[in-house]
Amino acid sequence: MCGIVGYMGKENAMDIIINGLKHLEYRGYDSAGVAFVEKKKIKKIREKGKVDLLKKEIDKLKIITHSAIGHTRWATHGSPSKENTHPHSDCKNKIALVHNGIIENYLELKNLLKSKKHKFSSDTDTEVIAHLLEENLKHYPIFDSILNTINILKGSFALLFIFADYPELMIGVRKNSPLVFAEKDGDSFFSSDIIGISTYVDRAYFLEDETIVFLNKSKFSFFDFKGAEKKIPAKRIEKSSFFIEKKGFKHFMLKEIFEQPEAIRETIQDRYSIEDGTINIGIDKSLFEGIDKIKILSCGTSYHAGLIGSYFLESFGGVETSVILSSEYPYKELKEKETTLFIAISQSGETADTLKAIRKVKGKNRIIAITNVPESSITRESDNYVLTHCGPEISVAATKTFTSQVALLFLLSLQLSQQKNALNKKEIIKLLEELRKIPVQMEGVLNKSSLIEKSASKFYQKENFLYIGRWINYPVAMEGSLKLKEISYIFSEAYSGGQLKHGPISLIDEGTPLIAIAPEDRAKVKILSNIEEAKTRGAEIISIGTKGDSELLSLSDVMFSIPPVNEFLSPFLTIVYAQLFAYYIALRRGVDIDQPRNLAKSVTVE
Ligand code: F6R
Repeated sequence: MCGIVGYMGKENAMDIIINGLKHLEYRGYDSAGVAFVEKKKIKKIREKGKVDLLKKEIDKLKIITHSAIGHTRWATHGSPSKENTHPHSDCKNKIALVHNGIIENYLELKNLLKSKKHKFSSDTDTEVIAHLLEENLKHYPIFDSILNTINILKGSFALLFIFADYPELMIGVRKNSPLVFAEKDGDSFFSSDIIGISTYVDRAYFLEDETIVFLNKSKFSFFDFKGAEKKIPAKRIEKSSFFIEKKGFKHFMLKEIFEQPEAIRETIQDRYSIEDGTINIGIDKSLFEGIDKIKILSCGTSYHAGLIGSYFLESFGGVETSVILSSEYPYKELKEKETTLFIAISQSGETADTLKAIRKVKGKNRIIAITNVPESSITRESDNYVLTHCGPEISVAATKTFTSQVALLFLLSLQLSQQKNALNKKEIIKLLEELRKIPVQMEGVLNKSSLIEKSASKFYQKENFLYIGRWINYPVAMEGSLKLKEISYIFSEAYSGGQLKHGPISLIDEGTPLIAIAPEDRAKVKILSNIEEAKTRGAEIISIGTKGDSELLSLSDVMFSIPPVNEFLSPFLTIVYAQLFAYYIALRRGVDIDQPRNLAKSVTVE
């Protein structure tokens, strides 16, 4: 994870680097640092904590420079201390580099370099790169030294180098970690994500894997890892209609929860026609031809979206679907049949686990990727992709990308159904009509946010929560529980209502809060019994159900209601309450909601 930024040009590099790092803080915020060259010497400023602390220090020192590199860190190797903060250097402080990724063979390299008397000043894997390059520079010119260095490294890396002796040089390298380069009017920019530099440029080079960018003043060239020059086309950057500002909301998370109706509208519009009951999400018909199984690969919140999607794919498309955590998939010893279609879901499009999982089947099986980032690694590595149109999601806790993924899976399964004649036209039109109503119904739920805020004030001091759901709302319980854990640091666990009696019911005691997702659907009668069983044992019941359900109301200490909807569509509404509940609990507990401890938005390590 981590975010890196580089700039060389006419402006003060410090302003551009700090602005870029602020936008990349979603990738990690344990510590931040910059490096630049002054009078043929590398200067570094590094601070433990967030980018604002680094900015304070830079402002105090009134630094003006026209070339610099910067880094915001999510610690992997070495604690989040000042010494481990990037940029890192060689023994003589002639090189400074920033790194996003992991060097898997760093220990072996570190031992080798130590035997050659290199002195290390951090516990990071990154520092070996500086010393390795230093070692190479003793024998080879700069370009050859870069090639020798990067070809020895195993793992993933996006790197930016500057050199005390060559102040007009900046080198960028990409392998398995994202890196974007852009140029405008003689100014050059690097960033882990286009979001870090999109205010300054209209076009960018989204570097493919194994690319080196050699920037000398304002001249730049691209090379592969063998040293051969290559051409990469610049692409126009799509500026999103969603702004990267809080728009008066206290946190990005709350703003993004409220953006869900719009994100769903944007995601589904122009992809179906109610009049003739057709769906076209922009994927080729051949992808569905002859498939007899679907496997969804994803992590975290995207995994929960996949679980909900699996009910759509099985019920509407009639194809058996399993959902597998990407991080577990590589351990499976399976010979996948060609008739299995894979769907990879990742909002960031950078999740290393998911990327690794799809690489395992790439070239053998058909893969459709669902992401929110057009130029992400997963988008680019999949032959077929469909985008959610949510705009950037800044809060680490995913909300609007989740519901948009679910909306896209709904359409995808209807397109599959259409192609396989599984549902008839009338049934498809009915489902599309119901989907179209969802954004307005969601707005209705959002209008009740003050009710959730009030009940959060009653429950925020509880030390653990249980969530239950059944069938299509079981993944909603899992997602609600994940949201609560992530941002409030309260321990919670989600179970299928039917599993309570198989063990977890022993956790229930007088006053244990139990959140039950129990709207009107095929599982409702059974979950009512599960709620009853918990209540009898002292649980305090917070339920999310359908308006007018007097039975559920009588069992609940607090009940939040959704309007009656098609049973397949209730997760769009029930999850909004669960998201808001987690948000207001966290708000009461005074934690950093948009940037919870230990997390990062884009998980580029396995
Ligand atoms: C939770 C959350 C994470 C991500 C997970 C996968 O709020 O954001 O659990 O869902 O890291 O990320 P993507 O979807 O980018 O692959």
